[in-house]
Amino acid sequence: MPEKNSRLAARRAVLERNADWMRDYMKSFYNEDKEIQHAMLMKEAHTGRVKEIIRDLAVHLGLSEEDVALAEIMGLLHDVGRFRQFTVYRTFKDHLSEDHAAAGLKLMEDNRLLDGLFPWEQSLVRFAVEWHNKKEIAPAPDACHLGYAKMLRDADKLDIYHVLEPFLPSKDGSGVSPNFIEKFVEGVQCDYTMSGTEDDRKLVRLMWVYDVYFAWTLQRIEERGYIKALIRCLPKGEKVELGIARLLEYERKKLAEKDDAGFRSSHECENIEGM
Ligand SMILES: [Fe+2]
Repeated sequence: MPEKNSRLAARRAVLERNADWMRDYMKSFYNEDKEIQHAMLMKEAHTGRVKEIIRDLAVHLGLSEEDVALAEIMGLLHDVGRFRQFTVYRTFKDHLSEDHAAAGLKLMEDNRLLDGLFPWEQSLVRFAVEWHNKKEIAPAPDACHLGYAKMLRDADKLDIYHVLEPFLPSKDGSGVSPNFIEKFVEGVQCDYTMSGTEDDRKLVRLMWVYDVYFAWTLQRIEERGYIKALIRCLPKGEKVELGIARLLEYERKKLAEKDDAGFRSSHECENIEGM
């Protein structure tokens, strides 16, 4: 199939070109300021790991080599907006600075990072990057856009659990805010921007479990002990226990699910109007 092989070659060429570009771009933010330098190295390592994780996830979901390559491009570019964000604002909190996904899309446009991909392939990358950091994914144009967006969010979350691990034991002694506890008991996602205490933030991270799409990802989160570590750090209380029981029951059911990307090939959206 010459057409398919040519897409594989084209996507791999875009991936390699962007890997080189990202290396130089990330290095351009290296700084004598220790706080900035630490943040840059942290995000550089996160970028590399998310690219690897989404690759493994795409393979697990049975996608073709060319569709795996497209997923890797998304992993590589998803946080391109982070480097300038921290350097300028000294925070990774979007609500206190800027939407790093939107900034990433602009960088991708200004530097023509997606040149070499067809418009419909570019649309898949842009959609996944745009919605990787939002509370939920906007209505997607088709199953393909949705499937890739889910994969990127899962890959990102799995690595963020890893990044946050050293911060878990920190406590400010103020417990969990009452409205956060209620949401936890109901099994409803909390709004991170409304978190007021260290324990609120832990609860938000724990409740990401409800937002993990694939059993493959949840299995890795579980195996690495992130869920148990978060639970150990929570304050005790009847309502907290109820929330934990609900979460663990959800996890048990989710782990038994059979994963499905929701699409078989990215070419399914090739002829969608306007792409
Ligand atoms: Fe991000």
